[in-house]
Amino acid sequence: MSTAPDSATAPSTPILPPLQIGKHTIDSPVVLAPMAGITNRAFRRLCRQYGQEGLRAGGATGASSLYVSEMITSRALVERTPISMRLIEHDPDEEPRSIQLYSVDPVTAGAAVRMLVTEDRTDHIDLNFGCPVPKVTRKGGGAALPWKSTLFASIVAAAVREAAPYDVPVTVKMRVGIDDDHITFLQAGKIAESEGAAAVALHARTASQAYSGHADWSRIAALKQAVTTVPVLGNGDIWSADDALRMVAETSCDGVVVGRGCLGRPWLFTDLAAAFAGSSARVEPNLAEVSSVLREHARLLVEFHGDEGRGCRDIRKHIAWYFKGFAVGGQMRQQLGLVDSLASLDDLIASLDLSQPWPSEAADGQRGRAGSARKVALPEFWLDSQELNDEQRAMIALAEESVSGG
Ligand SMILES: Cc1cc2nc3c(=O)[nH]c(=O)nc-3n(C[C@H](O)[C@H](O)[C@H](O)COP(=O)(O)O)c2cc1C
Repeated sequence: MSTAPDSATAPSTPILPPLQIGKHTIDSPVVLAPMAGITNRAFRRLCRQYGQEGLRAGGATGASSLYVSEMITSRALVERTPISMRLIEHDPDEEPRSIQLYSVDPVTAGAAVRMLVTEDRTDHIDLNFGCPVPKVTRKGGGAALPWKSTLFASIVAAAVREAAPYDVPVTVKMRVGIDDDHITFLQAGKIAESEGAAAVALHARTASQAYSGHADWSRIAALKQAVTTVPVLGNGDIWSADDALRMVAETSCDGVVVGRGCLGRPWLFTDLAAAFAGSSARVEPNLAEVSSVLREHARLLVEFHGDEGRGCRDIRKHIAWYFKGFAVGGQMRQQLGLVDSLASLDDLIASLDLSQPWPSEAADGQRGRAGSARKVALPEFWLDSQELNDEQRAMIALAEESVSGG
């Protein structure tokens, strides 16, 4: 991979100390955000590989960042559905192994955690309380849930109670609140801390913002002030290593969580690890290098799905992200979007002008979901009280059925 010419080579002073998540010491205080349909074993492998390169560039050695799985519904896991069993797989060299669970009730959450820890399937569990997708919030799950503070506390407590005997840390990922009138993050952060969560991560948007507008990093600074005994991780709108450094400088957070910025750009983890190690080295791949990462991603997806057709269909959504800013014509992009075999991907890549340099600004900045603000879909009377009523209690048991997306 090409790096920017001003690469620093000598080891320098780290920007932050290693991140401590329970018993795990994470040298580079960076977390790959859980992303449904994206952060499977294949993508995590690429990100891990690039994270290691960044640590070496910064003169450090050892384990790199924390790479979280896409969210897995606790109920599906307890039922051992084939999809959830595949999603909890890790590569043999993943350390620590990390899994994100989605749950709306303490009994199922506890059962899912118990299964993971007693069967030695993970080293870290993250709980998803940030999903703004209507089919999730409509049933009281995801970002709608912390509003119900007792329910939220009981889910965190159940997960921690099951995981603690195995020394597996449980972390919480959440949003600022449901909307500007129903802000929950400070209360939820303190509850999570007192129920034994090993860290709290904040996507600094409300559910009603979805992915629109900007993350309000001042909320991360406020959470850092409120939660004093466990690490606070900041999330939202980190598109470059410099954004990550800026978030730390502005909020004093203990680490950063990076999602959309690494879509089609797993080498961002090289930049992030290098930046936190105090190095100014940045990766600027040309189209030949980008194409070979894309090709490797496709190969890993084929391996992950155990099926060439499925793997190739899965890589399609990544192609526009990989080629962002490069001169790849509309017709070519269309053909790439229909790719159905590794051989056809190879042929299409071979027909590109692979000598194109990294397009800098055209490739930088936002990628992935944006969308617009909206009214959050919620169960009836949800906002009337922070406690569940009987009807809501009965309804919420159904909320774990068939959900996906964050
Ligand atoms: C495609 C996609 C899928 C996501 N899936 C999840 C998920 O499974 N669990 C979760 O907690 N958040 C999920 N998120 C939210 C991200 O983890 C992250 O909080 C959000 O994208 C903001 O960070 P960013 O600005 O770095 O992208 C998803 C986001 C995207 C774009």
